[in-house]
Amino acid sequence: MKKIIGLNLKMNLNHDEVLDYVRVIKDKKFNNHELIIFPSFIYLDKFKESNQLLGTQNVHQEDEGAFTGEVSPLQLKSEEIDYSLVGHSERRKYFNEDDYLINKKIKGCLRNGLQVILCIGETEEQRNLNKTKEVLEKQIKEDLKDIDNGLIKNIVIAYEPVWAIGTGKTPTNQEIDEAIKYIKQCVKLNYGSNIRVIYGGSVNKGNIVDIMNISSVDGALIGSASNNPNNVLSMMDMID
Ligand code: PGA
Repeated sequence: MKKIIGLNLKMNLNHDEVLDYVRVIKDKKFNNHELIIFPSFIYLDKFKESNQLLGTQNVHQEDEGAFTGEVSPLQLKSEEIDYSLVGHSERRKYFNEDDYLINKKIKGCLRNGLQVILCIGETEEQRNLNKTKEVLEKQIKEDLKDIDNGLIKNIVIAYEPVWAIGTGKTPTNQEIDEAIKYIKQCVKLNYGSNIRVIYGGSVNKGNIVDIMNISSVDGALIGSASNNPNNVLSMMDMID
């Protein structure tokens, strides 16, 4: 199975930068990796011209209704979008998304045939208190509560330690491996299914090869290092 490289563009890039981005990555093919781009909603159509897989950074839990400013999983599916990030730590922190809401969003996606990249991870404080595994297990149990075993294959988990996002800091390879194995084991125990787990948090040109070489790692979610499309292509060259 191909590994996943997700590009989380966050609230970055403007009209001209998007056009340039699309020109650079258009029709690029990769042998061993699936590239999924997560732009702002307003640029999804422009990014369609790149002929790469697309996802959104957020999604509402309901299919339709009076929810001003929101975008539903049904709408995304009807626009042929295949993926959505759910539970990114910035959504948890700045938009008060809790595990209960995240669980509803995941169900909304699965109901509409959208694939989910569920982001989980511990804060620095939780890590210092040696609570990483406890936090990961709680997030997995609550975020995936009552989800049909057969649908777990439509979910990928992104292990993103909060303290590693946008900071230039990363766990050691051994720590990444341990956390990812633990997540896989937790899902297997609770659902009897294998799940793919990717790593996110300060992935860049300097560390991507090492991180992708960790055997438990099924891919990466890249934030700031994905703002420049040429940088993305050089990272793809290094790993693909
Ligand atoms: P970063 O972001 O690569 O800038 O740390 C990763 C993410 O937020 O998914």
